[in-house]
Amino acid sequence: MQELEGFTDRIICGDCLEVMKAIPDNSIHLVVTSPPYNLGISYENHNDNLVYGDYLSWMKEVWVEVKRILVKGGRFALNIAPTSIKDFRPIHHDFSNQLRDIGLIMRTEIIWYKQTMRRRTAWGSWKSPANPHIVPSWEYVLVFFKDSWALDGDPKDADITADEFMRFSDGFWYIPPESQRHGHPTPFPEELVYRLIKFYTYKGNIVLDMFGGTGTVATVAQKTGRHFIHIDISPKYCKIAEQRLQIAHMLQEFPLSTGKVGKKVKVSELFPAEAGRLTYSQAKAKKTPQVQLLESKEDYKSLEATDA
Ligand SMILES: C[S@@+](CC[C@H](N)C(=O)[O-])C[C@H]1O[C@@H](n2cnc3c(N)ncnc32)[C@H](O)[C@@H]1O
Repeated sequence: MQELEGFTDRIICGDCLEVMKAIPDNSIHLVVTSPPYNLGISYENHNDNLVYGDYLSWMKEVWVEVKRILVKGGRFALNIAPTSIKDFRPIHHDFSNQLRDIGLIMRTEIIWYKQTMRRRTAWGSWKSPANPHIVPSWEYVLVFFKDSWALDGDPKDADITADEFMRFSDGFWYIPPESQRHGHPTPFPEELVYRLIKFYTYKGNIVLDMFGGTGTVATVAQKTGRHFIHIDISPKYCKIAEQRLQIAHMLQEFPLSTGKVGKKVKVSELFPAEAGRLTYSQAKAKKTPQVQLLESKEDYKSLEATDA
Protein backbone atom coordinates (compact mmCIF):
# COMPACT_ATOMS: atom_id res chain seq x y z
CA MET A 1 0.00 0.00 0.00
CA GLN A 2 3.03 2.24 0.47
CA GLU A 3 3.21 2.90 -3.27
CA LEU A 4 -0.18 4.60 -2.97
CA GLU A 5 1.11 7.29 -0.66
CA GLY A 6 2.19 9.54 -3.51
CA PHE A 7 -1.40 9.59 -4.80
CA THR A 8 -3.58 10.05 -1.75
CA ASP A 9 -4.92 13.42 -0.68
CA ARG A 10 -3.51 14.98 -3.81
CA ILE A 11 -4.87 16.90 -6.75
CA ILE A 12 -3.24 15.25 -9.75
CA CYS A 13 -3.40 17.13 -13.01
CA GLY A 14 -3.05 14.66 -15.86
CA ASP A 15 -4.71 12.19 -18.16
CA CYS A 16 -6.81 9.78 -16.14
CA LEU A 17 -5.64 6.66 -17.95
CA GLU A 18 -1.97 7.53 -17.55
CA VAL A 19 -2.34 8.30 -13.87
CA MET A 20 -4.60 5.37 -13.06
CA LYS A 21 -2.15 2.96 -14.67
CA ALA A 22 0.37 3.95 -12.00
CA ILE A 23 -2.05 3.24 -9.11
CA PRO A 24 -1.43 -0.17 -7.51
CA ASP A 25 -3.92 -3.04 -7.90
CA ASN A 26 -6.57 -3.53 -5.20
CA SER A 27 -6.02 -0.22 -3.44
CA ILE A 28 -9.15 1.97 -3.81
CA HIS A 29 -12.37 1.51 -1.85
CA LEU A 30 -14.72 3.73 -3.81
CA VAL A 31 -14.60 5.40 -7.21
CA VAL A 32 -17.17 8.16 -7.68
CA THR A 33 -17.17 9.94 -10.99
CA SER A 34 -19.10 11.76 -13.63
CA PRO A 35 -17.24 11.41 -16.92
CA PRO A 36 -17.58 13.79 -19.85
CA TYR A 37 -20.91 12.81 -21.44
CA ASN A 38 -19.68 13.47 -25.00
CA LEU A 39 -22.31 16.14 -25.51
CA GLY A 40 -20.03 18.77 -27.01
CA ILE A 41 -19.59 20.59 -23.71
CA SER A 42 -16.85 23.16 -23.72
CA TYR A 43 -14.29 21.85 -21.22
CA GLU A 44 -10.92 23.55 -20.88
CA ASN A 45 -8.93 20.96 -22.80
CA HIS A 46 -11.04 17.93 -23.60
CA ASN A 47 -12.79 17.29 -26.91
CA ASP A 48 -16.32 16.38 -25.80
CA ASN A 49 -17.42 15.52 -29.30
CA LEU A 50 -15.86 12.17 -30.10
CA VAL A 51 -17.30 9.65 -32.53
CA TYR A 52 -19.60 7.61 -30.27
CA GLY A 53 -17.74 4.32 -30.84
CA ASP A 54 -14.40 5.96 -29.99
CA TYR A 55 -15.94 7.49 -26.90
CA LEU A 56 -17.19 4.09 -25.72
CA SER A 57 -13.81 2.44 -26.40
CA TRP A 58 -12.04 5.14 -24.38
CA MET A 59 -14.46 4.71 -21.50
CA LYS A 60 -14.02 0.95 -21.54
CA GLU A 61 -10.28 1.39 -21.08
CA VAL A 62 -11.02 3.55 -18.07
CA TRP A 63 -13.43 0.96 -16.61
CA VAL A 64 -10.77 -1.74 -16.90
CA GLU A 65 -8.45 0.39 -14.76
CA VAL A 66 -11.25 1.05 -12.28
CA LYS A 67 -11.76 -2.66 -11.82
CA ARG A 68 -8.06 -3.35 -11.42
CA ILE A 69 -7.47 -0.73 -8.73
CA LEU A 70 -10.59 -1.38 -6.63
CA VAL A 71 -10.15 -3.56 -3.54
CA LYS A 72 -12.28 -6.68 -3.24
CA GLY A 73 -15.77 -5.45 -2.42
CA GLY A 74 -14.73 -1.97 -3.66
CA ARG A 75 -17.45 0.14 -5.25
CA PHE A 76 -17.82 2.18 -8.41
CA ALA A 77 -20.54 4.83 -8.44
CA LEU A 78 -20.95 6.17 -11.96
CA ASN A 79 -23.05 9.26 -12.50
CA ILE A 80 -24.44 9.36 -16.01
CA ALA A 81 -27.55 10.56 -17.82
CA PRO A 82 -29.24 9.60 -21.05
CA THR A 83 -28.22 12.15 -23.64
CA SER A 84 -30.26 14.71 -25.49
CA ILE A 85 -33.95 14.54 -26.31
CA LYS A 86 -33.65 14.71 -30.08
CA ASP A 87 -30.62 12.48 -30.46
CA PHE A 88 -31.44 10.11 -27.61
CA ARG A 89 -28.62 7.73 -26.76
CA PRO A 90 -29.01 5.28 -23.88
CA ILE A 91 -25.43 5.86 -22.80
CA HIS A 92 -26.24 4.48 -19.33
CA HIS A 93 -27.21 1.14 -20.87
CA ASP A 94 -24.05 1.08 -22.98
CA PHE A 95 -21.94 1.78 -19.90
CA SER A 96 -23.67 -0.80 -17.73
CA ASN A 97 -23.19 -3.42 -20.45
CA GLN A 98 -19.49 -2.56 -20.72
CA LEU A 99 -19.01 -2.69 -16.97
CA ARG A 100 -20.78 -6.03 -16.61
CA ASP A 101 -18.79 -7.39 -19.58
CA ILE A 102 -15.52 -6.66 -17.78
CA GLY A 103 -16.81 -8.53 -14.74
CA LEU A 104 -18.00 -5.90 -12.29
CA ILE A 105 -21.14 -6.79 -10.34
CA MET A 106 -23.97 -4.35 -11.00
CA ARG A 107 -25.40 -3.80 -7.55
CA THR A 108 -28.01 -1.13 -8.07
CA GLU A 109 -28.98 2.09 -9.75
CA ILE A 110 -29.95 5.27 -8.00
CA ILE A 111 -32.20 7.86 -9.56
CA TRP A 112 -30.90 11.36 -8.95
CA TYR A 113 -34.04 13.41 -9.44
CA LYS A 114 -33.06 16.98 -10.25
CA GLN A 115 -36.51 18.42 -10.97
CA THR A 116 -35.38 20.75 -13.70
CA MET A 117 -38.80 20.93 -15.36
CA ARG A 118 -39.30 24.62 -14.64
CA ARG A 119 -36.59 25.49 -17.13
CA ARG A 120 -38.37 23.50 -19.77
CA THR A 121 -38.82 24.78 -23.31
CA ALA A 122 -38.87 21.67 -25.53
CA TRP A 123 -42.28 20.01 -25.50
CA GLY A 124 -42.18 18.21 -28.85
CA SER A 125 -45.73 18.08 -30.09
CA TRP A 126 -47.54 20.28 -27.55
CA LYS A 127 -50.71 18.66 -26.16
CA SER A 128 -50.64 16.01 -28.87
CA PRO A 129 -49.50 12.40 -29.02
CA ALA A 130 -48.00 13.10 -32.46
CA ASN A 131 -44.42 13.32 -31.11
CA PRO A 132 -44.22 14.57 -27.52
CA HIS A 133 -40.87 14.73 -25.69
CA ILE A 134 -40.02 13.26 -22.34
CA VAL A 135 -37.57 15.60 -20.66
CA PRO A 136 -34.97 13.86 -18.54
CA SER A 137 -35.30 15.58 -15.17
CA TRP A 138 -33.08 12.95 -13.58
CA GLU A 139 -29.68 11.33 -13.88
CA TYR A 140 -28.49 7.89 -12.81
CA VAL A 141 -25.86 6.75 -10.41
CA LEU A 142 -25.03 3.21 -11.51
CA VAL A 143 -23.34 1.26 -8.72
CA PHE A 144 -20.96 -1.66 -9.31
CA PHE A 145 -19.02 -3.82 -6.87
CA LYS A 146 -15.80 -5.70 -7.49
CA ASP A 147 -15.84 -9.46 -6.83
CA SER A 148 -17.88 -9.35 -3.63
CA TRP A 149 -20.89 -7.62 -2.11
CA ALA A 150 -19.05 -7.08 1.16
CA LEU A 151 -16.44 -4.44 1.91
CA ASP A 152 -14.18 -5.29 4.84
CA GLY A 153 -13.75 -2.62 7.44
CA ASP A 154 -13.76 -1.92 11.13
CA PRO A 155 -17.38 -1.46 12.31
CA LYS A 156 -16.27 1.49 14.42
CA ASP A 157 -15.35 3.30 11.19
CA ALA A 158 -18.93 3.09 9.90
CA ASP A 159 -20.13 6.63 10.53
CA ILE A 160 -23.50 6.80 8.78
CA THR A 161 -26.38 7.72 11.09
CA ALA A 162 -29.59 5.70 11.27
CA ASP A 163 -31.52 8.58 9.73
CA GLU A 164 -29.06 8.92 6.86
CA PHE A 165 -29.03 5.18 6.29
CA MET A 166 -32.80 5.03 6.04
CA ARG A 167 -33.00 8.02 3.72
CA PHE A 168 -30.12 7.05 1.46
CA SER A 169 -31.21 3.43 1.09
CA ASP A 170 -34.31 4.67 -0.74
CA GLY A 171 -32.86 4.84 -4.26
CA PHE A 172 -34.82 7.92 -5.37
CA TRP A 173 -32.66 10.88 -4.41
CA TYR A 174 -34.10 14.33 -4.84
CA ILE A 175 -31.12 16.66 -4.99
CA PRO A 176 -31.26 19.97 -6.87
CA PRO A 177 -28.48 20.49 -9.41
CA GLU A 178 -25.38 22.31 -8.23
CA SER A 179 -25.98 26.04 -8.22
CA GLN A 180 -22.37 27.03 -7.50
CA ARG A 181 -20.47 26.18 -10.63
CA HIS A 182 -16.98 26.90 -9.33
CA GLY A 183 -15.89 27.96 -12.84
CA HIS A 184 -16.81 24.58 -14.35
CA PRO A 185 -19.61 23.73 -16.81
CA THR A 186 -20.82 20.55 -15.08
CA PRO A 187 -19.98 20.12 -11.38
CA PHE A 188 -22.14 17.72 -9.44
CA PRO A 189 -23.63 18.65 -6.06
CA GLU A 190 -21.76 17.87 -2.85
CA GLU A 191 -24.91 16.28 -1.45
CA LEU A 192 -24.85 13.55 -4.11
CA VAL A 193 -21.25 12.69 -3.33
CA TYR A 194 -21.82 12.94 0.43
CA ARG A 195 -24.54 10.30 0.25
CA LEU A 196 -22.41 7.93 -1.83
CA ILE A 197 -19.39 8.29 0.42
CA LYS A 198 -21.32 7.86 3.66
CA PHE A 199 -23.36 4.94 2.34
CA TYR A 200 -20.58 3.00 0.66
CA THR A 201 -17.38 3.62 2.64
CA TYR A 202 -15.84 3.54 6.10
CA LYS A 203 -13.95 6.43 7.59
CA GLY A 204 -10.34 6.31 6.43
CA ASN A 205 -11.18 4.65 3.10
CA ILE A 206 -9.73 5.93 -0.17
CA VAL A 207 -12.06 7.57 -2.70
CA LEU A 208 -11.03 8.32 -6.28
CA ASP A 209 -12.50 10.60 -8.92
CA MET A 210 -10.52 10.31 -12.17
CA PHE A 211 -12.65 12.99 -13.86
CA GLY A 212 -12.46 15.17 -10.79
CA GLY A 213 -13.25 18.58 -12.29
CA THR A 214 -13.40 21.17 -9.55
CA GLY A 215 -12.87 18.68 -6.75
CA THR A 216 -16.34 17.90 -5.47
CA VAL A 217 -15.39 14.32 -4.55
CA ALA A 218 -12.06 15.37 -3.02
CA THR A 219 -13.75 18.08 -0.96
CA VAL A 220 -16.48 15.82 0.40
CA ALA A 221 -13.99 13.00 1.05
CA GLN A 222 -11.85 15.38 3.06
CA LYS A 223 -14.86 16.72 4.97
CA THR A 224 -15.98 13.20 5.87
CA GLY A 225 -12.59 11.87 7.00
CA ARG A 226 -11.85 9.80 3.92
CA HIS A 227 -8.72 10.01 1.76
CA PHE A 228 -9.09 11.16 -1.80
CA ILE A 229 -7.32 10.92 -5.13
CA HIS A 230 -8.35 13.59 -7.60
CA ILE A 231 -7.36 13.42 -11.26
CA ASP A 232 -8.32 15.89 -13.98
CA ILE A 233 -6.68 16.82 -17.23
CA SER A 234 -7.38 20.54 -16.90
CA PRO A 235 -4.85 22.67 -14.98
CA LYS A 236 -7.57 25.30 -14.54
CA TYR A 237 -10.02 22.92 -12.86
CA CYS A 238 -7.23 21.38 -10.77
CA LYS A 239 -6.32 24.83 -9.49
CA ILE A 240 -9.96 25.51 -8.59
CA ALA A 241 -10.09 22.12 -6.84
CA GLU A 242 -7.01 23.00 -4.79
CA GLN A 243 -8.52 26.29 -3.71
CA ARG A 244 -11.81 24.64 -2.89
CA LEU A 245 -10.08 22.05 -0.76
CA GLN A 246 -8.16 24.68 1.06
CA ILE A 247 -11.32 26.57 1.88
CA ALA A 248 -13.09 23.39 2.95
CA HIS A 249 -10.11 22.47 5.07
CA MET A 250 -10.43 25.74 6.92
CA LEU A 251 -14.19 25.78 7.16
CA GLN A 252 -15.11 22.18 7.73
CA GLU A 253 -14.46 22.07 11.44
CA PHE A 254 -16.11 25.42 12.08
CA PRO A 255 -19.67 24.24 12.46
CA LEU A 256 -18.57 20.97 14.02
CA SER A 257 -16.42 22.46 16.73
CA THR A 258 -18.77 25.29 17.58
CA GLY A 259 -21.68 22.87 17.57
CA LYS A 260 -19.99 20.43 19.89
CA VAL A 261 -18.67 22.83 22.46
CA GLY A 262 -21.61 25.17 22.13
CA LYS A 263 -19.27 28.12 21.80
CA LYS A 264 -19.51 30.83 19.17
CA VAL A 265 -16.20 31.59 17.51
CA LYS A 266 -15.42 34.37 15.06
CA VAL A 267 -14.24 33.07 11.71
CA SER A 268 -11.20 35.35 11.96
CA GLU A 269 -10.16 33.60 15.18
CA LEU A 270 -10.18 30.25 13.49
CA PHE A 271 -7.97 31.00 10.54
CA PRO A 272 -4.24 31.45 10.46
CA ALA A 273 -3.05 34.84 9.16
CA GLU A 274 -1.96 33.38 5.82
CA ALA A 275 -5.29 31.66 5.23
CA GLY A 276 -6.45 32.10 1.67
CA ARG A 277 -3.02 33.06 0.40
CA LEU A 278 -1.58 29.54 0.12
CA THR A 279 -2.73 26.76 -2.13
CA TYR A 280 -3.99 23.65 -0.39
CA SER A 281 -0.74 21.75 -0.99
CA GLN A 282 1.39 24.66 0.20
CA ALA A 283 -0.67 24.89 3.35
CA LYS A 284 -0.36 21.16 3.88
CA ALA A 285 3.38 21.17 3.32
CA LYS A 286 3.75 24.06 5.72
CA LYS A 287 1.62 22.25 8.26
CA THR A 288 -0.16 25.50 9.00
CA PRO A 289 -2.06 25.02 12.25
CA GLN A 290 -5.70 24.69 11.34
CA VAL A 291 -8.88 24.57 13.33
CA GLN A 292 -8.70 21.75 15.83
CA LEU A 293 -10.64 18.63 14.88
CA LEU A 294 -12.65 17.31 17.78
CA GLU A 295 -12.71 13.84 16.26
CA SER A 296 -9.17 13.08 15.20
CA LYS A 297 -8.75 11.66 11.72
CA GLU A 298 -7.48 8.12 12.09
CA ASP A 299 -4.55 6.86 10.11
CA TYR A 300 -5.52 4.86 7.11
CA LYS A 301 -5.18 1.11 7.67
CA SER A 302 -4.81 -1.18 4.71
CA LEU A 303 -7.94 -3.15 3.93
CA GLU A 304 -6.42 -4.78 0.88
CA ALA A 305 -8.17 -8.01 -0.04
CA THR A 306 -5.93 -11.02 0.27
CA ASP A 307 -7.49 -13.07 -2.48
CA ALA A 308 -8.53 -10.43 -5.01
C1 LIG B 1 -18.38 15.97 -16.02
S1 LIG B 1 -16.89 16.78 -15.66
C2 LIG B 1 -16.63 16.36 -13.97
C3 LIG B 1 -17.10 17.42 -13.02
C4 LIG B 1 -16.88 17.06 -11.55
N1 LIG B 1 -17.74 15.98 -11.13
C5 LIG B 1 -17.12 18.27 -10.63
O1 LIG B 1 -17.95 18.19 -9.73
O2 LIG B 1 -16.49 19.32 -10.86
C6 LIG B 1 -15.71 15.81 -16.50
C7 LIG B 1 -14.27 16.22 -16.26
O3 LIG B 1 -13.42 15.30 -16.97
C8 LIG B 1 -12.21 15.98 -17.29
N2 LIG B 1 -11.49 15.19 -18.30
C9 LIG B 1 -11.75 15.05 -19.60
N3 LIG B 1 -10.89 14.24 -20.20
C10 LIG B 1 -10.04 13.80 -19.23
C11 LIG B 1 -8.93 12.92 -19.19
N4 LIG B 1 -8.50 12.31 -20.29
N5 LIG B 1 -8.33 12.69 -18.02
C12 LIG B 1 -8.75 13.31 -16.88
N6 LIG B 1 -9.79 14.17 -16.86
C13 LIG B 1 -10.43 14.41 -18.01
C14 LIG B 1 -12.70 17.35 -17.75
O4 LIG B 1 -11.67 18.33 -17.66
C15 LIG B 1 -13.88 17.60 -16.80
O5 LIG B 1 -13.48 18.41 -15.71
